[in-house]
Amino acid sequence: MDAIEIAGGKPLHGEVKISGSKNATLPQIAASLLAPGTSIFRGVPELADIRTLGRLLVHMGARVDREGGTLRVDASAVAKPEATYELVKTMRASVLVLGPLVTRFGRARVSLPGGCAIGARPIDQHLKGLEALGAKIELSHGYVEAKADRLRGATILFDLPTVTGTENLMMAAALADGRSILENCAREPEVIALAEALNAMGGRIAGAGTSVITIDGVDALRPMDVEVIPDRIEAGTLLMAAMITGGDVLVRGAKADHLDAAIAKLREAGAKITPESDGLRVIAPQKPTAVDFITAPFPGFPTDLQAQLMACLSVAKGASRVVETVFENRFMHVQELSRMGADIAIDGHTAVVRGVTRLSGAPVMATDLRASASLVLAGLRAEGTTTVQRVYHLDRGYEALEAKLQALGANIRRVKA
Ligand code: UD1
Repeated sequence: MDAIEIAGGKPLHGEVKISGSKNATLPQIAASLLAPGTSIFRGVPELADIRTLGRLLVHMGARVDREGGTLRVDASAVAKPEATYELVKTMRASVLVLGPLVTRFGRARVSLPGGCAIGARPIDQHLKGLEALGAKIELSHGYVEAKADRLRGATILFDLPTVTGTENLMMAAALADGRSILENCAREPEVIALAEALNAMGGRIAGAGTSVITIDGVDALRPMDVEVIPDRIEAGTLLMAAMITGGDVLVRGAKADHLDAAIAKLREAGAKITPESDGLRVIAPQKPTAVDFITAPFPGFPTDLQAQLMACLSVAKGASRVVETVFENRFMHVQELSRMGADIAIDGHTAVVRGVTRLSGAPVMATDLRASASLVLAGLRAEGTTTVQRVYHLDRGYEALEAKLQALGANIRRVKA
């Protein structure tokens, strides 16, 4: 297994460009199942999760071709509306095919994703919604089996805002008979991007980005041709990489309105952040100031940036309190950060981070996607060499992260297994 080796201590300087958003691309690719013909996606990041979804679609009978950043999916010949355990177990977001399959083909068989490192992450809200739209759902042998003639519009109130749940039901309702109203929806920019893609396919969706989304079902959709939005989590991670090293970096493609909560916290911690024509420039202090933060659904502080900001705060002046409210087990980076000299105490969903003078490089183990990023950030600041093992977690969601950091002056390289 590959590892990433970092010799820390160099402030980052220069410009870096953000890749396309993983979490926006995945549901859009799943939505290509809604229409026969070839959908085209431009600016698609080269990531393990995107390849996994591609394999899933090929298994169903779709044709998937990639040329540079352009991905084409021809869903005309899909004959087997099924997502097997082998593929779903490596990526929870595979559940996004459920809504499109059942609404277009009247049946779907999708493996239950099961637990994952950061928590139980059930899909009860997805299933409850599909049932409300008239699907018959059975769970057997670890699979969700969904059947329906034509789905029919309904009003669905989510118990809590779920990103992929909102996306799944938007897709299912797009071809249902009549109007659906989804309440207490996730308001993430990726949900808006999916609604725009569905509307480009001929769908009739209004309200995405607010907590109530209205979908007027149509009889058929056509393929889409879309440009993927920039990855706000990658952008936030790079802003924080500049922050932890005391650097000065222009993050091109970063959108301020996608990153309000993160920008506010970085400013509170002493960074100067200014919007420029096509991105955000961050000038970081030598040492951050401690800040408290709590993760929450958008527009709150994203759970996907919690570990990275915590790494920054591990070398701050003072003590910070971090509360994780979205996932129940998302502090796994803490143990590894502690091995690098961080002083962090966990009590349930709260972590208290007491800033230390220095971190020291160490061999550390990545446990999930965003935790790996936080370890890379800590390595950039630490004295001596840090080796982050199990980088396949990082490769699921960051395109060429080490090359981007290298271009900003970091002493970082991938060590092939
Ligand atoms: C998406 C993102 C992920 C991000 C997360 C929260 C994608 C592909 N992934 O994941 O990067 O960390 O949003 O911003 O977009 N829940 C239920 N029942 C359900 C569904 C969710 O209880 O049926 C709970 C989850 O366990 C969690 C919370 O709702 O506690 C939010 O999860 P959700 O928004 O669904 O996360 P994902 O869509 O899986």
